[in-house]
Amino acid sequence: MLAIKRFTVNDMIAECVTDQKQPVFSFALESDQQDVVLEVATLKMGNWQRKVNTQIGIKYNGPELVPFTEYKVLLEVIDNHGETATASLTFETGRLGTPFQAKWITNGSYHFTERKTSPKPMHFKRQFSCQKEVVKARLYTTALGIYEAKLNGEKIGADYFAPGFTSYKNQLQYQTYNVTDQLKESNELFFTVAGGWAVGAFTYARRNRVYAKRQALFCELHIEFEDGSKEIIASDETFSVTMNGHIKEAEFYNGEVYDATVNMDDSHWEKATLEQVKIKPEILAQYGLPVRAKEKFKPITHYKAKSGMWIYDFGQNFAGVVAAKIKGKKGQKIIFKHAEILMEGELFTEPLRSAKQESVYICEEGQQTYSPTMTYMGFRYVGVTGIDPENLELTARALYSNVDETGYFECSNDLLNQLQSNIKWGTKSNFVDIPTDCPQRDERMGWTGDIALFASTASFNFNTRRFYDKWLLDVQKEQNRGGGIPVTVPLVRVPFQWEIMIPMAVDHWGDACILVPWAEYLTRGDVSLLKQMYPTMKKYVKACKFWAELFSVGKHRRIWRLLHHYGDWVAPEGGLWTWMGRGKWTATASLANTTNLLAQIAEILEKPDDAKYYKKLSEETSAAYRSLLMDKDCRVKKEFQTAYVLPLHYKMLNRGDASKAASHLARMIKENSYHIGTGFPGTPYVLFALADNGYIDEAYKMLLTDTRPSWLFQIKAGATTIWERWDALREDGTSNTGADDGTNGMVSFNHFANGAVGDFMYRRIAGIEPIEGGYKTFKIEPILGGGLTYAKAEVETAYGKVKSHWTLKDDKFSIDIHVPVGTTCNLTLPNGKSYVVTSGHYQFQEDREVIENEC
Ligand code: BGC
Repeated sequence: MLAIKRFTVNDMIAECVTDQKQPVFSFALESDQQDVVLEVATLKMGNWQRKVNTQIGIKYNGPELVPFTEYKVLLEVIDNHGETATASLTFETGRLGTPFQAKWITNGSYHFTERKTSPKPMHFKRQFSCQKEVVKARLYTTALGIYEAKLNGEKIGADYFAPGFTSYKNQLQYQTYNVTDQLKESNELFFTVAGGWAVGAFTYARRNRVYAKRQALFCELHIEFEDGSKEIIASDETFSVTMNGHIKEAEFYNGEVYDATVNMDDSHWEKATLEQVKIKPEILAQYGLPVRAKEKFKPITHYKAKSGMWIYDFGQNFAGVVAAKIKGKKGQKIIFKHAEILMEGELFTEPLRSAKQESVYICEEGQQTYSPTMTYMGFRYVGVTGIDPENLELTARALYSNVDETGYFECSNDLLNQLQSNIKWGTKSNFVDIPTDCPQRDERMGWTGDIALFASTASFNFNTRRFYDKWLLDVQKEQNRGGGIPVTVPLVRVPFQWEIMIPMAVDHWGDACILVPWAEYLTRGDVSLLKQMYPTMKKYVKACKFWAELFSVGKHRRIWRLLHHYGDWVAPEGGLWTWMGRGKWTATASLANTTNLLAQIAEILEKPDDAKYYKKLSEETSAAYRSLLMDKDCRVKKEFQTAYVLPLHYKMLNRGDASKAASHLARMIKENSYHIGTGFPGTPYVLFALADNGYIDEAYKMLLTDTRPSWLFQIKAGATTIWERWDALREDGTSNTGADDGTNGMVSFNHFANGAVGDFMYRRIAGIEPIEGGYKTFKIEPILGGGLTYAKAEVETAYGKVKSHWTLKDDKFSIDIHVPVGTTCNLTLPNGKSYVVTSGHYQFQEDREVIENEC
């Protein structure tokens, strides 16, 4: 039987509200037969009908959509066996450019001028009545700052930190909430607007008022009554505002101060003032994913520390907030402090730098609950003062962008399974509206290099489509005129972010504009993202080329030295200057890789001249690396692992040279007792560089090494997320806090970057690798080693589930695979035999190949 598994509009199954004129439909199919492909699909919406034979990226091309309207879409499919299936979905249009009646409002008497701090939260309210029966009501809201909306005392929606973080000067999301059932005869709309990213202190330089001098609110409530009449309540001077609410202070880094004793009716309310907002963003219906409360944690233990603080251990490091049930006395002050690790039984807060990560709650009398709404922390441990455990039931909630989990990996080695869990938690903790570097200290910024190198791993484990698309729009808009991509996006200028002054291009960091869309294209298969990003990519590569060529002649024009590189960032040896000193190698390799990818993208987009141009550029750059940065024997003078890893993985060397370079890499690694020696750029690829060049055993040995520096040392040391530094903790329990290596005290226990090894687990251990976008064709080619006796991986692709489950028993290899409808799998068994397999569920054994359909 044929079934439609996942029918989406703009990648959403339900609740999509869009301002896109041409929403995009996709669907996955499932069948109990083998060899199934789509024959034809018909999409119908009102009088519009479109027949296609593709499953992804189908654009609506019918009559112009009408604002504020619900549309129902029917999908009928027929496969090559004549079987049929149907499905439907609904979506709603947003404003589609309808001018707002809303005006920006603020508290005009609040002048927030302090530097390096965050403003006091503002509270707005508006009362109104509904005399007639309501049939439809929608609230459209945004803010400069972050907001939470309530109607008649009840939270509207489930989002945190709306409207989300975008490059506000370019684009600002508004949220649409269906409040039909929440309206009564007499109503009160209530909003809290904290400083958030737009006004609050942000970046380690604690810049504030980046986008606005104080918070502002912008909203419209549209009500439709049974008799057909309509009413719009728009933000204007009829709203009241006060600074005297429950939430006294709110900031991402420092936390929240909540006073439950405040009676808001007694607060001093004044008329809201119209605000002159300086920026002029395009205000668009939410196109990213909202941040939501996800997993709930109960403490695994708690104890009284010497300091007198009650310490609760949640067993997992994550980004989120506490949720407390409290029996308190009026005025009792409870402080919740957060940390990722303990030192000598106390919270270790040194890595937080200037971030306080603290929630303060002032009780009313009796039973009450509290959970912060305007901040989040990165923590595993919470230290509580001001209350004893018998009066406190403490839980915690993970907060992150609402990404669905799409990947699953498990194998016979429990340490690797814990590594996979750490990789997933590293992702969740740093997918907080934008891809951040870390969730705890005074950064939490959109560092481009971290996600550039991690994007592919994240796309195995999560459906990253809306998350990446949203951020990439900012990348595109923040690109400077010379083509450089800021090292943090959205751009909040920090000292020495020189790209403001000159068209800065930074290898691997700026590569995000190519590596992230490329990872997303391979996973999702929709060329429209490549098309959209193509001009950005071209401009960026032009900037890289400019810097490489500046003050150089001949072949040296392809060696990219200038101007600023992070190089082999956070490699185990040396500090900032050692890492950055390797910039010439990392940058030249980056240029060879991005130009090579651009050549492939140009081919996909049918631009043969461009493809030729970039291919040549890539070849010249590779040749320059080979002849100028390596000796005759392919040896790098001052050897470091990344200098071999990059040219190998980026396929910059011919076969003979690759084998020489791989032997140097393998030698170095052996001499280093299989310890890792790479920084951010080399880490994702080091195991590929070994395994794909004949050093499978060495790759497994490195992966399974459990002394420092290595991935599994972290696991043995009790890590539940991925560390920023290989020696964030040392064997003796001390931490490398980076106090004296030029990084200004940089150590985090929750950075996803080094978790990019997850790619190797899916692509080589389980063997699953996309070849054509969206896994239209893909391969399964597991490589055995490391004493593993089984591995199971599943990836929910755009076409459906790809599965590779293998076992090795008494030297007999067997594998279960699943190939989704509409796709083709190139299966290669460890004995080298290969098969081309179309959709279905199959089992293969190495010595006697049995092919059977099990469904
Ligand atoms: C961040 C990194 C980032 C780096 C760039 C750090 O402070 O935490 O992850 O990529 O700076 O140098």
